[in-house]
Amino acid sequence: MENSVKTILKVNSSGQRDSSVSRQLVAKVADKLLRENPGADLIERDVSGGLPPVNEAWIGANFTPKDQRSEEQRTVLGSSDALVEELRNADVIVVGVPIYNFGIPAALKLWVDQIVRAGETFRYGEQGPVGLLEGKRAVVTVASGGVETGSAADYASTYMKHVLGFIGITDVTIVSANGLAMDADTAIASAHQAIEELQLAAA
Ligand SMILES: Cc1cc2nc3c(=O)[nH]c(=O)nc-3n(C[C@H](O)[C@H](O)[C@H](O)COP(=O)(O)O)c2cc1C
Repeated sequence: MENSVKTILKVNSSGQRDSSVSRQLVAKVADKLLRENPGADLIERDVSGGLPPVNEAWIGANFTPKDQRSEEQRTVLGSSDALVEELRNADVIVVGVPIYNFGIPAALKLWVDQIVRAGETFRYGEQGPVGLLEGKRAVVTVASGGVETGSAADYASTYMKHVLGFIGITDVTIVSANGLAMDADTAIASAHQAIEELQLAAA
């Protein structure tokens, strides 16, 4: 990543608003990025309200070559195209992930399904798939009631890291507030500390 961050994309997915820890951590990372990169654009994407499903029409449109898509197929992919463009324009992506039933929220999975697209964010090369979004960095803020990030029960941060890497975003930092159901103050303080210490401008 270049030292200068011009565009920051925040993606939030918690069903909670003011009481959401993952949202609070996303905001803190974004504030730090804005402080360190004055004038950077901040794009806010909240996926918690749901996104279009990947249904038959969507799949048919996606696998029709771009120059052969009907008007209707272009409309079906409109929202996905906009989400991909948003991601392409961002230098740093900050994703808020509440752990729901050991994984990511269904609403965030819909976002993943809309942005992982052959020919757009990855391509099939001779040696296998190749991510197309290079030179970006991601910070994923994870909030959980009990599950420890990186433990066998964590299908959230490992999944996000994998799927972002698949589309070329291999520089992924995870910031976690775990154990919120037991000792929220300590978990949040430790996540805040980790954010303060993040070297976000480093190449
Ligand atoms: C539907 C639902 C499912 C949850 N499942 C888990 C879980 O499997 N493991 C866990 O540690 N915490 C679980 N939690 C607790 C949340 O991870 C925790 O409340 C976290 O703070 C949510 O993120 P947020 O504060 O950004 O909304 C669940 C919470 C909800 C609402």
